[in-house]
Amino acid sequence: MTSTPKRALITGITGQDGSYLAEFLLARDYEVVGMVRRSSTVNFERLGHLQDRIEFVPGDLLDEVSLIHLLRTHRPAEVYNLAAQSFVQTSFSQPVLTAESTALGVTRVLDAIRFVDPTIRFYQASSSEMFGKVVEVPQRESTPFYPRSPYGVAKVYGHWITVNYRESYGLHASSGILFNHESERRGLEFVTRKISYGVAKIKLGLADELRLGNLEAQRDWGYAGDYVEAMWLMLQQDEPGDYVVATGETHSVREFCELAFAHAGLDYRDHVVQDERFFRPAEVDLLVGDPSKARQVLGWQPRTSFPELVQQMVDADLELVRSDLERHRAPRL
Ligand code: NAP
Ligand code: GDD
Repeated sequence: MTSTPKRALITGITGQDGSYLAEFLLARDYEVVGMVRRSSTVNFERLGHLQDRIEFVPGDLLDEVSLIHLLRTHRPAEVYNLAAQSFVQTSFSQPVLTAESTALGVTRVLDAIRFVDPTIRFYQASSSEMFGKVVEVPQRESTPFYPRSPYGVAKVYGHWITVNYRESYGLHASSGILFNHESERRGLEFVTRKISYGVAKIKLGLADELRLGNLEAQRDWGYAGDYVEAMWLMLQQDEPGDYVVATGETHSVREFCELAFAHAGLDYRDHVVQDERFFRPAEVDLLVGDPSKARQVLGWQPRTSFPELVQQMVDADLELVRSDLERHRAPRL
């Protein structure tokens, strides 16, 4: 007798993490349903290779009825809530929109679950940005939050409403406090991808400088492909919980530049220019996580080292810029 495959719903499937999680679940024989919001252009750039294996359904975190409708229709066993306005800089210029999706959107999904089927297991994409102006180094599950951006504040709300629905209604709701994770699929506006793409453009003669903000900020950077496994592991536990997912190492933006430019045979000091436009009204200076609980309880650990991540991203962008050049496509940034 063959068993029925598990069905998972991913919000934010068109994003970086959504694409890796979809791959991960498909490889484990899940049926993957991906919620996609309406836009005037198709946005499956990260999912092209999986497109015919995923069922795409319309929905938006701003619209509760769309969430109830798609849970009722598709009956997933697991919901991964990855959708959010996720760019910190934009949250300063669009704080209310950020709160609508990144904060209240979480309540809408949780309420839809409670309403349709409280046995659905729920994953919330919480963030190390919640630690903000850190009060403890390294940061662990018990470290108090001190967010420094409207995005961070919204994520604190999303985190606590997840905890609250777990405690109030007995939902299997878990929160992954993920530290920065990157890849060649990262949005071009985030600093790591901006650097790897900038290096490729400079190397291939399309630019001479790269304009950045604060080079001294430090982050605990891991590889996105490694981190989606931790999300899944959380939902396979008998009990829901909160977990820090991190490498335990921290590096500055300057170090990222140094390695990325050097990998292409360049010196970052010849090309990087600091520009006020990319500084933030309030900065998060240092993030470094303690992933002991994830290691001990979930058996999770990162596989990709910092130098490997940087090199992988630069190589991928060299390839991308080369192939765009061959096809006479304009640079993407
Ligand atoms: P991302 O690439 O920016 O993807 C965000 C996704 O959310 C996209 O699919 C986007 O759809 C969707 N979305 C935005 N607003 C929506 C709305 N109102 N309704 C429905 N969908 C909406 O983000 P990511 O890097 O994959 O991150 C995934 C999640 O983890 C986010 O919640 C992020 O805040 C959180 N997180 C990320 C990191 C990290 O380092 N990557 C660390 C900690 C936490 P469109 O394609 O239509 O824009
Ligand atoms: N984006 C960007 N662009 N950041 C820059 C630049 C620049 O030109 N120059 C310096 N930085 C610095 C930022 O000030 C910040 O300190 C650091 O680089 C990282 O910025 P981002 O890559 O934009 O990521 P983030 O840390 O603000 O937020 C990311 O990680 C969070 C987890 O801690 C996002 O993925 C969030 O969604 C996620 O929750």
